[in-house]
Amino acid sequence: MPTSVLCVQHLVKRFGGFFAVNDISFDIKPGEILGLLGPNGAGKTTTIQMLLGVVTPTAGSIQMFGLDLATDREVILQQVNFSSTYVSLPQALTVEENLWVIGRLYGLSHIQERIDDIVKRLEMEGFRHTVTRKLSSGQSTRLGLAKAFLTQPKILFLDEPTASLDPDIAKKIRSFLKEERRASGLSVLYSSHNMHEMEEMSDRIIFLQRGKIVAEGTAQEIVAQFGQADLEEVFVKLAREK
Ligand SMILES: Nc1ncnc2c1ncn2[C@@H]1O[C@H](COP(=O)(O)OP(=O)(O)OP(=O)(O)O)[C@@H](O)[C@H]1O
Ligand SMILES: [Mg+2]
Repeated sequence: MPTSVLCVQHLVKRFGGFFAVNDISFDIKPGEILGLLGPNGAGKTTTIQMLLGVVTPTAGSIQMFGLDLATDREVILQQVNFSSTYVSLPQALTVEENLWVIGRLYGLSHIQERIDDIVKRLEMEGFRHTVTRKLSSGQSTRLGLAKAFLTQPKILFLDEPTASLDPDIAKKIRSFLKEERRASGLSVLYSSHNMHEMEEMSDRIIFLQRGKIVAEGTAQEIVAQFGQADLEEVFVKLAREK
């Protein structure tokens, strides 16, 4: 069994008296794509924010590459990146300028070559010189993904990466993600409300509900465990349970 690149143990986040994340433990292996599934408010984004060091856990531990996020934050975050529909980049800069800022922040070499490569692969040539505030939501999602891939991270956290993309671009992004994983052994944790995408992309799925893990396994294992026809039916069944 390969060692985990990410290991979460007994992670808790409490807001006042409310447990948004309530004692979850899981890990991710090198090159693994782990899907984070769950109804609105289940705790997916809060979990990802804790893994990024943006939200401080109430309890529990987060280790990446064998280091503790609480004590080795800078070293860890250098090898991690993320994209989220809900986090925007500076609006007055062009797409290319934003990518340059990220390249500089991470101390990358050959920044222009990397930008050219990612812009081409994510089919962003048509808007690379556009000011970010003028982008459509699908274009700005692609910028977020370009930002995430630019730094060649070892772990990528994607919060609903394809939410605002048209089906054609979403499909291309999925292929791109799988290609990157094959080429570089990238590990990915990502959330989506698209069940078809979850089934297609995830090596393993964690199903969160009210801050707890209520199911875990491959899509087929989870479907079989709940005796449903597909993942969507499992989702509806679990989401409606009191
Ligand atoms: N800063 C905060 N203060 C108080 N409550 C919060 C805060 N952030 C999140 N919550 C609550 O924690 C719960 C989990 O929210 P979270 O955003 O993690 O859910 P999610 O699974 O990402 O949902 P969605 O599918 O809608 O994106 C929600 O009930 C939310 O209202
Ligand atoms: Mg969310």
